[in-house]
Amino acid sequence: MAGYSDAPMRQLAAEQGALWTVSEMISARGLLEHDGPDLTLGRPYPGEQNRVVQLFGALPEFLAPAVQRVEEWFAPAAIDLNMGCPVPKVRGKGGACLLQTPEVAYELIRAMKSATSLDVSAKIRLGWDEDRSVEVAQGLDEAGVAVISVHGRTSKQRYTGEADWEAIARVAESVDVPVIGSGDITTLDRAQQRSRLGVASVMIGRGAVGNPWLFRALASGDGRYPSAAVRARTALRHAELQAEFYGEDRFGVRSVKPLRKVLPKYLPDHPQLRDELVKVLTVEDVARVLAPLLQQEEELPTQP
Ligand SMILES: Cc1cc2nc3c(=O)[nH]c(=O)nc-3n(C[C@H](O)[C@H](O)[C@H](O)COP(=O)(O)O)c2cc1C
Repeated sequence: MAGYSDAPMRQLAAEQGALWTVSEMISARGLLEHDGPDLTLGRPYPGEQNRVVQLFGALPEFLAPAVQRVEEWFAPAAIDLNMGCPVPKVRGKGGACLLQTPEVAYELIRAMKSATSLDVSAKIRLGWDEDRSVEVAQGLDEAGVAVISVHGRTSKQRYTGEADWEAIARVAESVDVPVIGSGDITTLDRAQQRSRLGVASVMIGRGAVGNPWLFRALASGDGRYPSAAVRARTALRHAELQAEFYGEDRFGVRSVKPLRKVLPKYLPDHPQLRDELVKVLTVEDVARVLAPLLQQEEELPTQP
């Protein structure tokens, strides 16, 4: 998830039992213009495993060498092609645009596969403005993808309405490769219901922001939500991992500013902290705002 699934978030997710994680999407072209493996979008945290790196692009002559670079620099478990991003700047350059010209996507997959022995997968939406997911998935299957992830909305829908899991189920039925469903998994109940629709697995995006315990819930079947004290401690740890991974910014500050949108999500039941959490700059700021909760004795987990 662009802007979210960076190394610190992936580390917290993996610790809570996520089977695998996916990097933020990385432009194939941008990657080729970069001259060292320090690119934070792709760099793993020390010891990271089971992490898929996602690329976007529309030209085989960029994607094939980008795949080689990803393999060499970032130690991925597999490499994924983004066919779902509806953001305008990506249109015409790949992402969901490829759903209008799926034959281009099949060529990209072949080019990616020719550049690596790792598995290559694809993440699609149902279509550009109408559902053509079965046709696209069958073409991708034929082109040699190992896995297909399906977000159950069209690009036109962006994030409105509900993900169509019946459509995802039809894709799962129509191809030989495993299909992973994506869209609106925010609770253990939902994950369990959607898992019964014939998908190999479910993918969690927005529901994991400020709630890495959702992975633990799915792995263990225990959906209890941790106490505020535990959540505050994890929010602080997220900030510490952030400062450690990114280091100093150009002003010499170990900034945790990008977490302003994430930290309040750890504490939805403490809205009074929100105003302060969206202003933090450093780990120390986070510790100061969360101090009342951090000092609490560990309580038994509460029901969500
Ligand atoms: C802010 C944001 C960034 C996203 N970035 C990506 C991305 O880089 N690659 C991708 O395949 N999907 C991306 N997605 C889509 C999610 O992976 C997911 O398919 C979608 O949000 C539906 O699942 P959810 O309801 O669990 O979030 C993004 C979604 C959001 C909201």
